[in-house]
Amino acid sequence: MEFESEKKFVEWSECITLKHPNVQCVAGILNARREEGQSLRGLDVGGGIGTFASHVCTLVPDSRITIIDKSALAREGFSKNPALNFIEGDFLTLDESQQFDFIIMKTVLHHFIGEGEQETRANQKAGLAKARRLLKPDGVLIVEENFYEDLFGRDLIGRLILFLTQPRLIEPLIRRLGANTAGEGVRFRSYSGWKALFAEAGFGIDNMHESAHWGKDFPLWQRLPLMCKRRFQAILTMSKAPIREAYPAAARSYRRVKHTIAAVAALSALAFVAYREAEA
Ligand SMILES: C[S@@+](CC[C@H](N)C(=O)[O-])C[C@H]1O[C@@H](n2cnc3c(N)ncnc32)[C@H](O)[C@@H]1O
Repeated sequence: MEFESEKKFVEWSECITLKHPNVQCVAGILNARREEGQSLRGLDVGGGIGTFASHVCTLVPDSRITIIDKSALAREGFSKNPALNFIEGDFLTLDESQQFDFIIMKTVLHHFIGEGEQETRANQKAGLAKARRLLKPDGVLIVEENFYEDLFGRDLIGRLILFLTQPRLIEPLIRRLGANTAGEGVRFRSYSGWKALFAEAGFGIDNMHESAHWGKDFPLWQRLPLMCKRRFQAILTMSKAPIREAYPAAARSYRRVKHTIAAVAALSALAFVAYREAEA
């Protein structure tokens, strides 16, 4: 199915230049790891028409990048750079016969959407687990993502954005409010939310390069209802780490029960004080 957002993704890609800070950042990361004369093989997941990958290949000597993207528009507008090759398809079903020195996931993980919160988390984790299998043992995963920090530090904004952007019924309204993925769904996370997911998929964060600009123009009328303390975009470099077990369900339920008891106790105390005051 062709989504409304696909045309926008192509337009955005066309605007990426060789001098773009994110191109420079990723090329810098790869050049710092590359040994003299080494040719690096990379995979760009959701790399669209290949503009970003093409610039990276220009700046990193002897590098070649395979782009996998499920969009037919990406195939139609694909870059002519011979250092690139294109696979049209869903990354989650890509065959695993090759291994790569680096994998780029540039603003794509938040598009690995399923039906609702749980399936979406499972899809994002499956994408990361697949990237782990496709990386050489000393390979690097480079992820560019958006981070939304709420006032309570509970990764609530990403959940709310998924809840609002997924239903087809309210698509026109949500699109008018500025979401280009209205009716499709996107799932961003807070820093700790992404970090936990990476750890469960077997990745540890080595470095984070925060964008100097993105997110700073978040208007108050959008920020306030989301109770957003801060949003930012960053490029993370990650290497393989032991897979960390998800926070056990039993421990999560115990925490929930504890919080509920504390809330009920606090409300009862408040009601009791109010009752005594009224009686006096
Ligand atoms: C926001 S765009 C980013 C494009 C490019 N990485 C960039 O930053 O300019 C997300 C891209 O990921 C692709 N995509 C989303 N889910 C995918 C999947 N499961 N497999 C392959 N491509 C996917 C979309 O078609 C789209 O081109």
